Amino acid sequence: MCGITGYVGHEEAAPILLDGLSKLEYRGYDSAGIAVRDNDGKVRVVKAKGRLKILSEKTDGGTTLPGHIGIGHTRWATHGEPSEANAHPHISDESSDSSAVVGVHNGIIENYHELKEKLIAKGYKFYSDTDTEVAVKLVDSYYRESGSPLEALEKSMVVIRGSYALAFMFKDYPDEIWTARKDSPMIIGVTNDESFIASDVPAILKRTRTVYYVDNLEICRVRAGDVKFYNIEGESRPKEAVSISWDAQAAEKDGYEHFMIKEIHEQPKAVYDTLSTLLKDGLTDLSSTGLEDSLIRNFRGVTIAACGSAWHVGIEAQYLLEGLARIPVRVELASEYRYRDPLPGFWEMNSDTAPAAGPVAGDLVIIISQSGETADSLAALREAKKRGAHTLAIVNVLGSSIAREAEFVLYTHAGPEIAVATTKAYSAQLVAIDALALHFARVRGVITEDKERQMTAELMTIPDKIRTLLEEKDRIQWFASKKINTRDAFFIGRGLDYAVCLEGSLKMKEVSYVHSEAYASGELKHGTISLLEQGTLVVSVLTQNRVLEKTLSNMVECKSRGAYLMAVTTHGHFEVEDIADFTVYIPKIDEHFAGSLAIIPLQLLGYYTSVARGIDVDKPRNLAKSVTVE
Ligand code: AGP
Repeated sequence: MCGITGYVGHEEAAPILLDGLSKLEYRGYDSAGIAVRDNDGKVRVVKAKGRLKILSEKTDGGTTLPGHIGIGHTRWATHGEPSEANAHPHISDESSDSSAVVGVHNGIIENYHELKEKLIAKGYKFYSDTDTEVAVKLVDSYYRESGSPLEALEKSMVVIRGSYALAFMFKDYPDEIWTARKDSPMIIGVTNDESFIASDVPAILKRTRTVYYVDNLEICRVRAGDVKFYNIEGESRPKEAVSISWDAQAAEKDGYEHFMIKEIHEQPKAVYDTLSTLLKDGLTDLSSTGLEDSLIRNFRGVTIAACGSAWHVGIEAQYLLEGLARIPVRVELASEYRYRDPLPGFWEMNSDTAPAAGPVAGDLVIIISQSGETADSLAALREAKKRGAHTLAIVNVLGSSIAREAEFVLYTHAGPEIAVATTKAYSAQLVAIDALALHFARVRGVITEDKERQMTAELMTIPDKIRTLLEEKDRIQWFASKKINTRDAFFIGRGLDYAVCLEGSLKMKEVSYVHSEAYASGELKHGTISLLEQGTLVVSVLTQNRVLEKTLSNMVECKSRGAYLMAVTTHGHFEVEDIADFTVYIPKIDEHFAGSLAIIPLQLLGYYTSVARGIDVDKPRNLAKSVTVE
């Protein structure tokens, strides 16, 4: 979604704003703009539809906009088409080159229509279709009354409904930027004599590692090297800066052609680093999360809520937690969970217990999210808390909203993930779930310590086995180039293999634009099989012994209807080659963990198909990395 940058200091602001925006490109956008105040107090705004490159060319790398203070924005259209007029920054007064208020916004103002009507009645005119222009003019209306940015923001926050990260420059405060935030991310970086505003850490890493995370409903006054925080009542609040440990290199391509392939290669490290924090002396150890064994013993069930790939991890978790720890699990799309008034743990209901809406006190709700900012997942977390559930967040981004609001946090250690399509964060989540399931299994007395040791030893083989699989990437590249014109693809598997298929299929469609669906292979003949035509690509995953022959039969059914078959199976199942047209073998591993290996060729398939089709693989159309609106 939208990206925000801001700078106040002694250097030229525009090149810094543009550079910061380039680090936020991964969030997805369709237009961009910057506003810089010069030393005479005049603000110049330049905007461009399309890629940041166009904005950079228009401003000659920022050099045509002199000034030491400014704000920048990449816009992912919500209200109004992608166009220069709708691009941010927006201004309160078109007829002046020193507009009273200039602002950028990330999020959605839900009551913008109602606010716009009121502002029109007050005499305001609008030049764009955006909710942001409404916010800027609303703030302007209060600013005109009091002359105080703080008061104008406080009053605006009371009437605005929705989510926002806002950054403003006010005419009479030429050395300050003001920000306000609710449910959309925003950080402030500082040095001795400069301050930086951004939607995410990579935008400022080159310049500083000292960062403040802006809290919900917090207002902030940013001067060069000096940041002050206020609550919505306008009272000043103390805040500690944190030091970011990633290096800037982690957010660079490092010689790889794209972030996605770089991040695919970083998976052994992401998995190892994540496991290292969850295993101790051969056993799982969740002490870093704060979740205590006494609680784990008493959970009646687990609900998992997440979106997209994180939801796929949830599906995998359901098989693992139920299979290994014998605890009932249900998996919810966060966007549905938040509105559907869920009943108490379904596992408790029997004919004598009348189900009643109410708190799910005593149950555990797990929210899985790479960014920790996904609006639906954050709302699901709040819903679960409201109902009295214990909450555990599995999150990759330190200090993100979900991490801060959950009762317990399990951090994955994938490092910054830039490509829109998740790969290493997904893999880190998978092994986090593996460790969690093993821990629950031992603590709840389902498996012995010996068994756990044996299984954690298996888990620790995953990084090397992923490395081995990556050595075979040329074969997948060759196969992808052969199937470049594929129109449809189907991914089939049973049990844990089905969970992997869901993710493999998403990778294919999101980056290569090939229509793709995942099906539990037993379900094909209940409808989907009618879609198969001569040459349709069917990708089967066969790592689960108990159902392997069943999926083989389903492959035969597809083949006899003309499908072209790719199979991913475990080394040793050479019978698969008799049926499949192209087979990839994964190294042998305990079947519970095979998903961590089977996904690798599927990620590579999506990646190489995208590249062969000439698609912008790191920034596929219409998608945003972190979905901070509903
Ligand atoms: C996956 O490749 C997607 N980009 C998307 O489905 C993503 O997993 C989803 O939006 C959830 O994001 P989160 O993990 O940051 O909450």
